[in-house]
Parts: sequence; structure tokens; C-alpha cells
Amino acid sequence: MSIVLKNVSKIYHNGEIKTEALRKVNLSIEDGEFIVILGPSGSGKSTLLNVISGLDNVSSGTIKYNDKVISNYSVEELTKFRRKNLGFIFQQYNLLTNLNVEDNVKMGADISDNPLDVNEILTKVGLSGMKKKYIYQLSGGEQQRVSIARSIVKNPKILFCDEPTGSLDEMTARQILSILEELNDEYKTTMVVITHNPNIALMGDRVIKMNSGNIEEIIINKKKKQATEINWS
Ligand SMILES: Nc1ncnc2c1ncn2[C@@H]1O[C@H](COP(=O)(O)OP(=O)(O)OP(=O)(O)O)[C@@H](O)[C@H]1O
Ligand SMILES: [Mg+2]
Repeated sequence: MSIVLKNVSKIYHNGEIKTEALRKVNLSIEDGEFIVILGPSGSGKSTLLNVISGLDNVSSGTIKYNDKVISNYSVEELTKFRRKNLGFIFQQYNLLTNLNVEDNVKMGADISDNPLDVNEILTKVGLSGMKKKYIYQLSGGEQQRVSIARSIVKNPKILFCDEPTGSLDEMTARQILSILEELNDEYKTTMVVITHNPNIALMGDRVIKMNSGNIEEIIINKKKKQATEINWS
């Protein structure tokens, strides 16, 4: 699915204070692209991801997925659309603490028409030995990997990631980035990834640089790097 944003603005009102988080943003994302969003704190990256993915509504402008204008959808229509087509990796994990690792990941598979194999994904994120452990028995990084596994196993058409490797050590972060790369290569999953790490940005087909609610620059990487080639610092 291709995504087209036209003049998308997002204004937050808190009492007297008005924040223009997005100012008439125009952007097209092609099917199968690996998009990285970079920019300073407060520049509108998460807001952009949230409105593109229908988690938040726009103040004005339109968002289209192929010929569907999702910015006009009702809450119910949006929920259905997200469930069927989109995947999310966030820093807050939203895991079910009364289920074990395997069952949390199965939940992702259960809502999908064409899920990937639960065991295979658990192995990929390095959790095959912890299937029966409960969430409260895991470290922060392990919990994040469970949440990543749950998003990936759904095999979504588009995967939105807000700082997916933020709280992971280098080795685990590389593993996760390799999985994103593999999904993008093998299943043509469209990736939209926010990061603060300019080295990770080299993995994108295109890098969207945000500043003060505007797209400041779009950089095309002719030769994108693989997760294994990225310098870490
Ligand atoms: N719910 C909200 N209500 C009011 N203002 C908000 C809200 N969410 C975000 N903002 C404001 O909108 C602007 C953009 O925020 P956003 O979260 O998109 O930044 P970001 O680029 O993701 O930053 P970071 O790198 O710190 O995550 C900021 O000035 C922020 O304070
Ligand atoms: Mg953010």
C-alpha cells in the first residue's frame, strides 16, 4: 500500500497553550520502502508516526492509503484498519503480564490472516529459551523483545517503530534491526522507523529529517547499509 499525506497539520491545545506539532506536511511513502525519521526531541517525529498510522487524528489535511482516505475514518473504522494492516513497535511495551512470553506473542499471531511462525520469531529475537516465563520475570530489554516479537509475528503490511532499539544493548539492537531488514527484504513490509541514531538512518531507502513540525530535508540513500555494517557509537 502506498501512503500519501497532503498538508497534514497537527495542533495540540492545552488550555492557553497551542503547539503546532506538524505544519502542513506533505509526504508519500511507497509500498515496500524503508523510511527512517530523524530529528531533534520535540520536532514532531512521534506525532508524525501517530497520525500516519491513525493512532491520532489530524487537525487538517488528508492521509490516504491507496485510495482510502483514513483521515476521514471513524474510530471504529480506524481500529479495524490498523488491526488488519499495521504493526507497531513502541518503547512502552503493552504486554499482558499475566500471560507468559509464548502466549503474548501468540496474541499477535491470532489477530492476523497470515501470521509468521511463533517459535521461529521467538528464536529470532533470542527468547526461545524463555517461552514459559511470565513478563514480570523478564528484564526490560527482554520485555521489549517480546513486544517486538508480538508485532512482527503478525506479519503486517506496514510496521511503525518509535525508537525500537532505544533501551537495548548493541548486540540485541543489531538483532532487532536485522529482523526489520529481513522483513523488509523478504515480505516487502513497509518500514517507518524513528531513531535518534544517525548511523541507523543509513539503513533507510529515504531519511526524513524533521525540525519544528516541518520536513526539513529528505535524503535518499542510494546504497543503504545493512544492520551488520552499521557503526555503533
Ligand atoms: N498530547 C500532547 N499535548 C500537547 N502537546 C504535545 C502532545 N504530544 C506532543 N506534544 C508536543 O508536540 C511537539 C512534538 O512532539 P513529538 O512527541 O512529536 O516529538 P518527537 O520528535 O517525537 O520528540 P522525542 O524525540 O523527544 O520523542 C512537542 O513540542 C510536544 O511537546
Ligand atoms: Mg518521540
